[in-house]
Amino acid sequence: MQQASHEREAWGSRVGFVLAAAGSAVGLGNIWRFPYVTGQNGGAAFVVIYILFVLLIGMPVMVAEIAIGRHARRNPVGAFRKIAPKGLWPLVGFLGVATGIGILSYYSVIAGWTFGYFIKTLLGAFSQSMTSEQSIVVFNQFVGNPLIAIGHLFLFILFTAVVVMGGVSAGIERWVKILMPLLLVLLLILTIRSVTLEGARKGLEFYLKPDFSKLDGGAIAMALGQALFSLSLGMGAMITYGSYVGKQDNIIVSAGWVCFFDTLVAILAGFLIFPALFARGLDPASGPGLVFVVLPTIFAEIPLGSFFGAGFFLLLTVAALTSTISLLEVTVAYMVDEKKWRRKPAALFMSCLAFLLGIPSALSFGGVDWLSRMPRIGLGFLDLMNIFMGNYSLTIGAFLISIFVGYKWGMAGIRAEVEQAGAVFFFRKTWTFLIRFICPVAIFAIFVYIVVTKNYF
Ligand code: TRP
Repeated sequence: MQQASHEREAWGSRVGFVLAAAGSAVGLGNIWRFPYVTGQNGGAAFVVIYILFVLLIGMPVMVAEIAIGRHARRNPVGAFRKIAPKGLWPLVGFLGVATGIGILSYYSVIAGWTFGYFIKTLLGAFSQSMTSEQSIVVFNQFVGNPLIAIGHLFLFILFTAVVVMGGVSAGIERWVKILMPLLLVLLLILTIRSVTLEGARKGLEFYLKPDFSKLDGGAIAMALGQALFSLSLGMGAMITYGSYVGKQDNIIVSAGWVCFFDTLVAILAGFLIFPALFARGLDPASGPGLVFVVLPTIFAEIPLGSFFGAGFFLLLTVAALTSTISLLEVTVAYMVDEKKWRRKPAALFMSCLAFLLGIPSALSFGGVDWLSRMPRIGLGFLDLMNIFMGNYSLTIGAFLISIFVGYKWGMAGIRAEVEQAGAVFFFRKTWTFLIRFICPVAIFAIFVYIVVTKNYF
């Protein structure tokens, strides 16, 4: 499987890239997080703001990242170094690689739970009706057991490593071509089940009826943060995936597809979650515990509940896996390009690192007391990681990437890259305006807002 050392790997096809990038984007952020955040922030009104941010900020930054990657054909560190050899820009790449390991470490903890709940549901753990209190006990025992928590973290990182070790087209692309269609099919089946439940209507009303009174600064910051995280922007994941894109592909069109799929899955996830919740008279604002605590109380009550329940957690597992693959790949690409490591040892090394760094996060739900509620800060270790990696680092990264493309690399540079092989740069003037003015200002404003108000996303 060893590549000739000077020949860079590449996607086998444009569809392969779009699926892999959409796989990176579609993850726990869409199916686990988007519905409950929407529930807490005004339903349909929040969705409208969210879609605006995807179009006005997410899409331009995604085009910027893919173009940087394809132009330089390197990992984020090497890419900045190639386009701007002098100066501090490669640090943006380093920040990205470090953030990749960081997010991978705690994201895999939650992804590990989804896999554990898939197995649990499959084995019939939720085939008898349960009250919410019982469900909370089950959940706390599960996540608070150190061995179980670390074991699932280990398993999930192992799955990720196995795919990434296979390489770009023979590993990642081959797997996403199976996993992404599976995800869409599962999502559609489950959503149809959910909206046809008796009493689903109230959930649909809640989801679709805008409540503009809830749209405060916090909700707006949340919408932008959610858009960046959900689209996998701000740390060079799309630079890395973009570095394997062929010169004949139209970057604008590919980025458009990725944004479209990501948003589609998030919105569908709302149609899946809310009707099921309301059909059972449960609280839509239950927050992060929603899918692990609330949903299992429903499985025993609906026809074929265990089957659909297992399907749901399988869906989450698949979505999370195609995301962790991209996180690991960023760090592997860095080791392969910059340190001249071979892919397999690089993937093993980086996944060990992510595993070790993930252990404190895995223990922060009761496994170890001081990690669960850290002295003086009052937060768990995983929450802290998410604040630094998911909030601060991604906003800083996305801000610097738009400044880099808008002012350093410049419009002539990116235009030459996008228009390779005669591709049309759709909406070029609008895009230029967005990346130079709107993106940096909006992202910076959000950064200041979350620092000052501690309204994290
Ligand atoms: N986008 C993924 C989700 O919504 C998570 C993710 C994968 C990610 N790769 C990323 C987030 C890179 C930020 C940066 O679950």
